Amino acid sequence: MRSPDGLEAILLVGGQGTRLRPLTLSTPKPLLPTAGVPFLAHQLAKARAYGVRRVVFATSYRASMFGEAFGDGSGFGLEIVYMTEDTPLGTGGAIRNAARALTCPPDAPVLVLNGDILSGHDIAEQVDLHVSRGAAVTLHLTEVDDPSRFGCVPTDDDGRVSAFLEKTPNPVTNRINAGCYVFQRSVIDAIPEGQVVSVERETFPGLIAAGELVLGYADTSYWLDVGTPAAFVQGSADLVLGKLASPALPGPVGECLLLDGAVVSPEAKVTCGTVVGPRARVEAGASVRGSVLSEGCHVASGATVVNSVVGVGARVASGAVLREVVVGDGAHIGPGNELTSGMRVWPGVNLPECAVRFSSDV
Ligand code: GTP
Repeated sequence: MRSPDGLEAILLVGGQGTRLRPLTLSTPKPLLPTAGVPFLAHQLAKARAYGVRRVVFATSYRASMFGEAFGDGSGFGLEIVYMTEDTPLGTGGAIRNAARALTCPPDAPVLVLNGDILSGHDIAEQVDLHVSRGAAVTLHLTEVDDPSRFGCVPTDDDGRVSAFLEKTPNPVTNRINAGCYVFQRSVIDAIPEGQVVSVERETFPGLIAAGELVLGYADTSYWLDVGTPAAFVQGSADLVLGKLASPALPGPVGECLLLDGAVVSPEAKVTCGTVVGPRARVEAGASVRGSVLSEGCHVASGATVVNSVVGVGARVASGAVLREVVVGDGAHIGPGNELTSGMRVWPGVNLPECAVRFSSDV
């Protein structure tokens, strides 16, 4: 099925992205460069490919940066309008606030997307299910190996959602809320205006308790919530490697993506979906795997960078090793430092040369 005529979308992009600090101190999560373009460009391209032509951004944190990045949307073949909350209203309050800019009638479906999800699911099938069953809301559900880290969403044999369950060590299903919804406009209009509301904790459980038809559209296609540093670098690498197709990719897929003015020595190894940002440099003998090197950063000879983010203008000195690390903008990692597993270096920090080396062969 093609998109119903004039289907509008709301993109939730007002969160502070605390789990991705320090990257999100200066740039909101949905605008972080991901495989060469702002993260949202991948979602917008997907929505447009489906037939969405008008998108309302629900902004709050660093709201003005979204307009600077996407303007009126014409460069993306879309009309984009911005609705900003003075104070964050939560997911439900943000959807209600954004709905003031919708033009569709109360009985029309509206696509609502979390602004931090990469997904290969078929939006057309989800909307089709919603319309054909006359649901109040239809949620995309994905299956994860370890549902205990998420709230889970059980359904009956007919796809009707029976509950929204909080995190528990013994989940009843491995299906979780995947952060893409189709709402009837009238259901959005019934959310209280100007109040902090969570769709996950209030709106959806309330609709189920009231006997409204809340449907699950379950599938097992590619899905990733890029809310953590590990997931963010994985999402970027997966796009570069072609594990998820995106019409917004600025170059061909392969082992690495080199952006304008990036310089990589022929004697460096840059692999596993690494992005080398504009004017970034990687010297001879360096090894970079599955990482995001931001604009103007520098990885010196013999350094190793694995599954990490190196911020704008940051420098990684000769022989330093980074594994699953976030280096903030303008920081400097001195020679010989070895940083691992989730360490975060704040912007502008200078780690001097490491005098003490820990080694298994000492
Ligand atoms: P963390 O702080 O790391 O949890 O990230 P987050 O702020 O993005 O929160 P979360 O991942 O739970 O949010 C899911 C989606 O809803 C994201 O796309 C957020 O941008 C968005 N979001 C969360 N809270 C608000 C809000 O109060 N207003 C708006 N407009 N969007 C929100």
